[in-house]
Amino acid sequence: MAEKLLSRYEELKAQINFHNYRYHVLDAPIISDLEYDRLLNELKKIEADHADWITPDSPTQRAGAKVSEKFEKVRHPAPILSLANAFGGDDARAWLERIKKLDDRVEKAKFVVEPKIDGLSVVLHYRDGQFVQGATRGDGEVGEDITSNLRTIRAIPLRIPVDSKGPKPPSYLVVRGEAFIPIQDFEKLNKRLEEAGEKTYLNPRNTAAGSLRQLDPVLTASRPITLLVYQIVHSEGGKVPTSQWEILEYLKSLGFPVTDISKRFNDLEPAIAYTETFDKGRDTLPYEADGMVIKIDDLTLAADLGFVGKDPRGAIAFKFPAREVTTTLLGIDAEVGRTGVLTPRASLEAVEIGGVVVRNATLHNFDYIAEKDIRIGDRVLIKRAGEVIPYVIGPVVDARSGKEKKYKPPTKCPACGQDVEHIEGEVAWYCVNAACPAQLVRNVEHFVSRGAMDIVGLGIKIVEQLIEAELVKDVADLFTLKKSQLLGLEGFAEKKAENLLGSIEQAKGQSLNRLIVALGIHGVGEVMAGDLARTYGNLSALSKTTTDELRQIEGVGPNIAESIVDWFARPANQKLLKKLKSAGLDPQMKADEKKKEGAFTGMTFVVTGTLPNFSRDDAKEFIESNGGKVTDSVSKKTSYLVLGENPGSKFEKAKSLGVKIIDEAELKRLTG
Ligand code: IVH
Repeated sequence: MAEKLLSRYEELKAQINFHNYRYHVLDAPIISDLEYDRLLNELKKIEADHADWITPDSPTQRAGAKVSEKFEKVRHPAPILSLANAFGGDDARAWLERIKKLDDRVEKAKFVVEPKIDGLSVVLHYRDGQFVQGATRGDGEVGEDITSNLRTIRAIPLRIPVDSKGPKPPSYLVVRGEAFIPIQDFEKLNKRLEEAGEKTYLNPRNTAAGSLRQLDPVLTASRPITLLVYQIVHSEGGKVPTSQWEILEYLKSLGFPVTDISKRFNDLEPAIAYTETFDKGRDTLPYEADGMVIKIDDLTLAADLGFVGKDPRGAIAFKFPAREVTTTLLGIDAEVGRTGVLTPRASLEAVEIGGVVVRNATLHNFDYIAEKDIRIGDRVLIKRAGEVIPYVIGPVVDARSGKEKKYKPPTKCPACGQDVEHIEGEVAWYCVNAACPAQLVRNVEHFVSRGAMDIVGLGIKIVEQLIEAELVKDVADLFTLKKSQLLGLEGFAEKKAENLLGSIEQAKGQSLNRLIVALGIHGVGEVMAGDLARTYGNLSALSKTTTDELRQIEGVGPNIAESIVDWFARPANQKLLKKLKSAGLDPQMKADEKKKEGAFTGMTFVVTGTLPNFSRDDAKEFIESNGGKVTDSVSKKTSYLVLGENPGSKFEKAKSLGVKIIDEAELKRLTG
């Protein structure tokens, strides 16, 4: 009887570990959560009656006891090496040239490309298929024993092979991998913490490293850490493959999680090309990667090539430009925006991120500074990724000296000295002084910008000069400027004054669309301005509209409708419109431009990527002249996505929403 129960116990352990692997490693479960729980409960019941049967590979033994004070040291069976860096294809080619000179076999070498995950390097020991010990990399010779923490990671098999059909591993096998938190899980974790009013984490890497190096495994178990393995560090009592590609396959067959984006190439060039596709597309990876690793496939050759210091010659890290760096927060200034919103801006000790020197970064809003407890003098982590403006992620608390100072948001506007106000329920602080010079500077800057009135030669410096000299008190004043006035300003001679007046004069002929954009009504961008211009035909008609009428226009929601009506209701703005009109600015939309009818009437288009013949503006004009509408973002309402080369995320979005996708030729064909 007991014998039968014992064999059932063994069977249950194997089954649960297998289903665990299907779920956490392969991401392809074959039983439901309910069935899984049933198996687990049956196992737990047996263990409750037979505590002496419990072995370390039981799935119930993942979160064990606390480590007393500090971690024991573990000597690695072989050095845990690092990697030399290559910054770009030429560095990688130079690497190959160097090693070609050392060994003739390199000429015919194959290469394996793997992701270089930004996590924590870990070393896992298996004896007779059982996971017995796990360590950090430490100094490469000696690491720390974090076995109990690693056991909580469900992607780590407690016994190999996980699938009984897998190969029998050597009696002693030591593998190496990278432990990390996937980006989505990290975001979920932070969201949960935020909702619970707790402090959020800085980034996936630090969180994973911190979680694995703390003393209570129960805490580690609560963090969504996973792992990918890529190396056999040591083996005894059994054979293992001698090429990197086969090692990856072999580790997979034992039940280890192995990356599925690695590839083998016969030459370096295609390996570099593959690597470069990830440089551009790194946001498509589910984890943070700081590069790709290019490895000589033949491990005997790689070993014979030896190392330089701790870097093996047989592999190279092809690094992507960094996106996160730490630097010192020197101070915080508040900037006043066009609408009077005060935005805190970090001034930083200059630091390079991805080839650009960064001295300033946004801190989003004043609540953010308080929530993250960011102090002046702190070492702060800065992120600059893609098109996002650099921002401060948070302080490196461990680097504090105690001299850092807490920051108090300003109570007066830094530009005009008047009190600032806070609207209940909003995070923003406002300067409500309509005559605030900083707001006026931003307003004029927007009015003259390229997407608006496009007044060439009127940069921020001159705008500031004009406002300081009180020549410009609102945007309409630009159009009554006189040459004599300009000549009184520093740096202005005849020619410069004439040129500026010339481009201002020219701007009087700008279209209604542009003038509407230039007014800077909250929520009204280029696309909306076009719709408003076509619907109303001139500013006078638009100023008399109602929210109900505006809501008839596609894309106008209640907030924007209200914001438009509000803008025109304000006496200061009515005065401004009068001034503009008497200065000669009252553009009318010609009747034939009003609401074009055509093959595309009622359809909405989004353009992404580079088209073969059309520029963006050409495409827009073509679509609009056929009665269609062009918007910036893909939604369910989008009729067509026009796809060009190197498309952005809009392509993915369109696919996921099932939006019809066409190319330039098809677009032209649609008009007949
Ligand atoms: S190979 C000889 N492969 O990058 C083996 N490293 O500076 C040398 N890493 O500390 C390492 N993904 O933590 C290798 N696919 C990968 C990797 C990888 C991440 C980390 C590893 C190492 C660092 C190299």
